[in-house]
Parts: sequence; C-alpha cells; structure tokens
Amino acid sequence: MDKIIIEGGVKLKGEVDISGSKNAVLPIMAAALLTEEESIIENVPSLWDVHTMVKLLRSLGAKAILEEGILKIKPGNHLKPLAPYRLVKTMRASVCVLGPLLARLGEAEVSLPGGCAIGPRPIDLHLKGLEALNADINIQHGYVKIKTKKKLRGSEIYLGGAYGSSVLATDNVMMAATLSHGKTVIENAACEPEVVDLARFLKKMGAKIEGEGSPRIEIEGVRKLRGVNYRVIPDRIEAGTFMFAAAITGGDILIRRMEPGHLNAVIDKLHQAGVRIDKFKNTVHVRKNGRLKPIDITTLPYPAFPTDLQAQAMALMSVTPGISIVTEKIYPNRFMHVPELGRMGAKIILEGPSAIVHGVKKLSGAPVMASDLRASAALVLAGLVAEGATEVQRVYHLDRGYENLEQKLTSLGAKIRREKE
Ligand code: EPU
Repeated sequence: MDKIIIEGGVKLKGEVDISGSKNAVLPIMAAALLTEEESIIENVPSLWDVHTMVKLLRSLGAKAILEEGILKIKPGNHLKPLAPYRLVKTMRASVCVLGPLLARLGEAEVSLPGGCAIGPRPIDLHLKGLEALNADINIQHGYVKIKTKKKLRGSEIYLGGAYGSSVLATDNVMMAATLSHGKTVIENAACEPEVVDLARFLKKMGAKIEGEGSPRIEIEGVRKLRGVNYRVIPDRIEAGTFMFAAAITGGDILIRRMEPGHLNAVIDKLHQAGVRIDKFKNTVHVRKNGRLKPIDITTLPYPAFPTDLQAQAMALMSVTPGISIVTEKIYPNRFMHVPELGRMGAKIILEGPSAIVHGVKKLSGAPVMASDLRASAALVLAGLVAEGATEVQRVYHLDRGYENLEQKLTSLGAKIRREKE
C-alpha cells in the first residue's frame, strides 16, 4: 500500500488544469450500455473508479478500452444482466448499470452496494423509481433482481428521500425511462451538473429529455438509441479542492479547464473567508487577500455547498482564526476526517451532524489515515500547511477520484511524494 508524504509550509503558486469529472463519467459509461453501437467518450480521467467501471462493463459483455483520456465502449448485442459483488463492493457507482441493463435486457441482477466509510447509503429511491416504470423487484442473497413485467412503461415519480434528492437514483430512472413506453416525469430530481451532463449525453444518443438541471425532468421514451462521441465536463470537486489548496496555503493559483458556474456556492464561501477569487470563462484565479475569516457551511444538494467539498473546507477552517461551523445535511456521519485532523492539532467538536471548528495557529505534521476519498483530500490539504511532515496512509482512496494529484501539487511547488508503505 502506498503512502503520501507532504512537507508543509509552501505557498502554492502557478497554474493547474482540471481533469474530466469522475461523477459525470461513471453514469455516462453505464448509459453507453443503452445502445449496441459504439460510443466514444473524451476527457475521461484515469482513475481507479473509472478502471473499475471499465472492468464492470467488460464483465457485462461490452468491449471497453481506455487510452489517453479516450474511452471507447461497444456494448454489442450479447450483454449479460449480472453485476457481481466482487466489483460492486469496491465502487457504489456500479449501481448505475441497473437502469440501462433493465432497459436493454428487461432484467438486471446487481449486487447491493452496502454502506461505506461516509455512512449508510441505501438504494431505496433507485428501486422505487424503477418499480414505478413497471419493474418487479426482488432482493435475495445480497442481490437486487429486477425484471420488467412486460415492457417498461413511463410514469410520474416523486424521487424524494429523507435527505432530499438523489443523484444516482435520478440517473438510473432517467436512463431506464429513455427506452420506456410513453412519458416519464421525475419530480424532485437531482439538479447536479453531473445529472445534466448525463442528460446531454443521452439526448445526443437520441433520447427525448427536458428539464434536466431542474427538479422536474420529463422523458419521452424512444425505441432505440445510437452510439455517439461525447466530451465529459470538468470535475468541479477537483477544481474546488485546488481552490481550498490555494486558500489554505495563502497561495496564488490559476485553475484552468474548469467550469466556474458549477462552483458558485463554494466561491461565495471562499469570498466570505477572505480569499480573493476572480472568475473567467473556464478559469478561476484564487489568491490570498489578507487574513482568513471564519465561515459557516451547510452541505445541501446542488446548487448549495457540496458534501464532496465539506472535508476540504474543514481543513481550511481548522487554521482560520475564530470559530467556524459545518453542518452536514447529506451524509450526517461524514466526519471520519475529524479525528485525523485532531491528530494534527485541529480543534474540532462534533455535535450531531455539525462540527464546531476552533481555528488554531498551526497544525503539526503527523501520520494520518485516509478513510474515504474526500477525507483523504482534506488530510493532504492540512499537510500542505502543517509544520513538518504529514504521512497520509491508505492513499488508494485518493487514487479513486483525483487524477495525478501529487504531480499537479508538485507543479504548484508543493513538497509531496509517494512511497510504498
Ligand atoms: N439516499 C437515500 N436513498 C437512496 C439514495 C440516496 O436515502 O436510494 C440518500 C443518501 O443516503 C444521501 C442522500 O440521499 O443521504 C444523497 O445521496 P445520493 O444518492 O445523491 O448520492 P449518490 O448518488 O450515491 C453521488 C456521488 C457522491 C456524492 C453524492 C451527493 C457519484 C458516483 N457519487 O452519490 O460522490 O457525495 O452524489 O452529492 O456520483 C464522492 O465523489 O466522493 C462521492 C461520494
């Protein structure tokens, strides 16, 4: 297992390019199964999760080749309906093959993903939506087995849960509805840019979709979809992570090949924190602007502050003078980074789904353990300002979702290296 070692204290400076979005490309890869024809997807990041999805597509019988950011997927006419535990357990996003398999084959058998380090992650909304499209659902031996009664039939579906909308449930239902008979309306649909990107991919394939990006999506089923060429949007969470990296080190970074409009809530909070951010077309310039100020953050579905940047924001708060508060409304247990930041000297008190952060003057480098992707990113950010060396262990979490993170940080001046444990 690898570990990352960071010598803190360098103000990051320079320019960095953002990779394609992990959370956009994974459902798009699943959506490619909706036709037998070949699709070619560009701007695909080389990430562990993307490689897992490639393996899953191949195990379903599709051809999939990823070379230098270009992914070719040819599902053909001999798909199998089974997504095995072996692959699904390593990546929850595998669950988004459920909708496309059901639509193409009339059946799907997908291992239940179970929980993960950020808390329980049920799929009841996925199942509720697919059931409303006329599918029968059976849960047996850790697998969800789903079959169409006759043909999938459009329906009006309210996709709400205890925590609001669901990104991948919206994706699953939208994908299945593209080949259903008649019209489907998804109410309380997720509005995340990754859902919009999937809808744009599906529309290019010939799907009839309206309202993506709003809480009401309408889909008129079509008989067939075709293979297409498509370029995935930039990763807003990677871009946000670099914004926090600039802020926490008091640096000066130009973040390029990104979409500033996807990060309005984050840019707003960083402004409040006293960081200067200038927005351009596909670029933001982030730099120090005097003393940092405390901020309060509540994570909520898009366009509010994203849960996937909560841990990185908390790293910044932990060295910001004063008291900052984080309230996590998407995953109330997503605080695995708190005790690790504590080992570096951060003062954070957990109160239910909130964290009260008393900013300290300095963090001190320490061996810390990554627990999930975004928690790992937060520990790397903390390491960038800590005194001395920080060793982040279990970095395979980072490899799931950040392309070339050490190389990108090194190019900005950070002292960071990877070693075998
Ligand atoms: N939920 C339910 N029932 C469901 C589905 C979700 O109660 O059937 C709840 C969840 O437990 C959670 C909330 O609804 O409390 C929102 O979860 P959502 O379904 O939107 O999450 P997801 O679609 O499984 C995606 C991202 C996550 C990101 C969340 C929230 C992908 C592959 N994953 O997950 O990304 O945190 O949306 O924005 O798109 C990450 O990249 O680190 C990551 C965890």
